[in-house]
Order: sequence, then structure tokens, then C-alpha cells
Amino acid sequence: MARRMLIAGNWKMNGLQAARDEAGRLVEALGGRAPDDADVLICPPATLLADMARDLDGSGLLVGGQDCHAEARGAHTGDVSAEMAADAGASHVIVGHSERRADHGETDEMVREKAAAALRAGLTPVICVGETLADRDAGRAEEIVSAQIRGSTPGSVDAAGLVIAYEPVWAIGTGRTASSADIAAMHAAARAALAAVKGADAGAAVRILYGGSVKPDNAAAILAIDGVDGALVGGASLAAADFHAIIAARPRPG
Ligand code: 13P
Repeated sequence: MARRMLIAGNWKMNGLQAARDEAGRLVEALGGRAPDDADVLICPPATLLADMARDLDGSGLLVGGQDCHAEARGAHTGDVSAEMAADAGASHVIVGHSERRADHGETDEMVREKAAAALRAGLTPVICVGETLADRDAGRAEEIVSAQIRGSTPGSVDAAGLVIAYEPVWAIGTGRTASSADIAAMHAAARAALAAVKGADAGAAVRILYGGSVKPDNAAAILAIDGVDGALVGGASLAAADFHAIIAARPRPG
């Protein structure tokens, strides 16, 4: 099944008001519009979400949140609900990023509730999974990631409405990337786990992104790997020139 590429930038806790200009430079580099054959998503910090949604209105570029609370509203000081992100103009929200799993003790169950909240609010959840180096060294990478997918994916959802991001924890921010063979094997395992949870058609429809030190110089090779439907880019999404080079490195349909 041909799946449309999604190139997503996760700005993490980076970006003051001036960073909005960087998104403007990206739109310029793209010739004023998102490409016809791929989706481009920027997930800025929550403080910039509404402004950037307005800035990018009409460009075809999408904006997303980096996390959401499982509930729509209430006494949860400091949290942002999926409804709030949608209200600010988001189309997507990242849930279960390994930094949130590590820094905030998020479990698969919590991530599943956040993904369900995203769907409730009309957002597409980008559900992150990935093994640690210890998991990989123990030969458990596929088992861990498959279990994360089973545990973090809401049951009742049209599979086209969600995205998975496979991000090996040891490749994030380290300059290390998994080998092409390992990426292909992990994406195949992730897709098999999805098919087991959601059925074969759903398994075939979901986009699975790769993340972890995706840069302009390795993007073409990574995006060409069978089963890789795009990238979730951290550091290299902060500079328009680098992110544009990654977008330009995608394989073109046909
Ligand atoms: P880096 O691209 O900086 O390694 O970050 C990857 C990531 O965590 C994206 O969500």
C-alpha cells in the first residue's frame, strides 16, 4: 500500500517568539507551500502553537502539540489538553515521546489514554515507541517495541487516524542512527504488532516514522528504507535549511 510521507519536526523545549521566523524561512524554501506529495508538520512548544498555526495558515504546513493531558479540562495545573491544542490550530499531537516516558514516568497505559484524548479532540496522535540501548543489547528491541505498540495504541480507532514514530532511545540526540537493516526490521515488527492489534488492513494503512538523529546527510538513505513512511526530526528541525533539506530528501512517488 502506498502511504503518503510525513516529515515532522519536534522542536521539544526550544523556540521563543523569534523562532517563528524560522518556520517562515522554511515556507519560503518550499516555494510558499507544503509539497503536494508529502505532509510537513512542525510541533513547536505549546507557547508558540497558536501563533504558528496562524503564521502557517494557507501554506499547507501543519502544526502539532508535543504532549496532551488525557482529560479535556479540569484541575491539572500546567497541563494542556488535546482540545486546547486543537483549539490553538493543531492537527496532530505527539504522545509518549521517550523523553516524557523517562522524565514524567509515562506508562503505555497513560500514553494510550493521551492518544485516545487526541482522537476525541479530532487530532491525529503521533504515538512514540522505541527501545533503550539495554533492551537492544539484550536482544529485546522487537519485543519491547511490539509491547509498547500493543499497550499505547487505543483499541477503537480507524487506523488511518494515527501515526507511529519508532525512535530508538539511544539514537535520540546522540548522532547515532540505527542501521538500515535494523530500521527495516523494526518497522516490519512494528507493523506486524499493529496488524495484530488492529487487523491487517489497519496495519498496512498506518504511517510509521523513524526518529533519532535524522539529519540532512542521512535523510535520503533513511527515508528510502522499505516501511519507513517519514521522519520525526528533533535537532535538525530547528533550522529551516536543515529541515528543508530533509524534506527534499524524501523519495518521490512514481
Ligand atoms: P533528534 O533528531 O535530535 O535526535 O531527536 C529525535 C526526536 O526525539 C524527535 O522526536
